[in-house]
Amino acid sequence: MITTDLEKAKRILDNNQNLIIPTETVYGLAGNIYNTEAINNIYRIKERPSNNPLIVHISSSESLDLVAKDIPEIAYSLADKFWPGALTMVFNKRESISDLITAGKQTVAVRVPNHETTLSLLKSLDYPLAAPSANPFGKVSPTSAAHAYRYFGESVDILDGGKCELGIESTIIGFEEETPVIYRLGSLSLEEIEYQLGNVEIKNHDDNSPIAPGMMLKHYAPTTPLLLTDNIDEAIKNNKAKRIGLLLSQTVYSDREKSTIIVINNKSNRTTAAKNLYSDLHQLDNMNLDLIIAERWEESGLGNAINDRLARASLNYQGIK
Ligand code: TXA
Ligand code: MG
Repeated sequence: MITTDLEKAKRILDNNQNLIIPTETVYGLAGNIYNTEAINNIYRIKERPSNNPLIVHISSSESLDLVAKDIPEIAYSLADKFWPGALTMVFNKRESISDLITAGKQTVAVRVPNHETTLSLLKSLDYPLAAPSANPFGKVSPTSAAHAYRYFGESVDILDGGKCELGIESTIIGFEEETPVIYRLGSLSLEEIEYQLGNVEIKNHDDNSPIAPGMMLKHYAPTTPLLLTDNIDEAIKNNKAKRIGLLLSQTVYSDREKSTIIVINNKSNRTTAAKNLYSDLHQLDNMNLDLIIAERWEESGLGNAINDRLARASLNYQGIK
């Protein structure tokens, strides 16, 4: 069922069932953090490995104390500045937060989503919500109720909050001896964070680090192989794929003869491109193409996060680069 009825949504969650909720980043598959069955079902429905912890969503920073402890001073100022918003912070967890949510870690990831409907819902509940992105493990995250419905159909109820305003997951920051470290690039740009904090180390590519397991694996991938490149013409020339979809950042492609090439041009600006990235990928993935060729973005602003997601999506690709 897809609904916009907040009372219904509350009832579903109060019954310890799962509900797909809108946020400003991507849709999340939510459950009551204090209910073991609801949390177990999140992993089961997503086919998510149990070593990949979940993000806890709270209605305001006033609830932070309920789930986290030893909160560094700097985290409060980041919360003041960026919550509600696309910033997830990792803290030492309270006893009451189960190992299921944190995948056995002593830390818990927390954020206040910036979405009116979901904030009202969270305020009406007696508990926070654990919610990973509402996609089967490794697939492209949903940025609309329709995307989520395509994945899960009637098996999970969906609270429809429209198209996600930002379109890429939250940026994750942890604290190592109180020094902020970025574990995942996301909708809150590096520039915005560094404006507050100065230079911040990024640790999102370390395959040996168990800090944010979700970041090490192939992720955000369409079923269609995706090639990420700086040189569109060469990539097209090198590939004998019959039906190609292009996801362009700046090249204007107008080769009318190649009628099988489908172009989505994202040029407009990075904010819009980030907002549309997953819906473009969903769209291309549903066109029965042999190959998606995506053009890399300039590495600034949200370009970093867009390239990060496209690079992970490209790990399926095994042809000529
Ligand atoms: O924008 C978002 O963050 C969305 C919406 C629904 O809020 N959620 C989301 O959740 O992207 P998910 O599960 O797809 O990604 C959560 C990431 C994973 O990479 C996980 O490893 C990391 O957060 N994470 C969770 N708990 C952590 C912890 N204690 N320490 C380090 N990383 C953690
Ligand atoms: Mg995810």
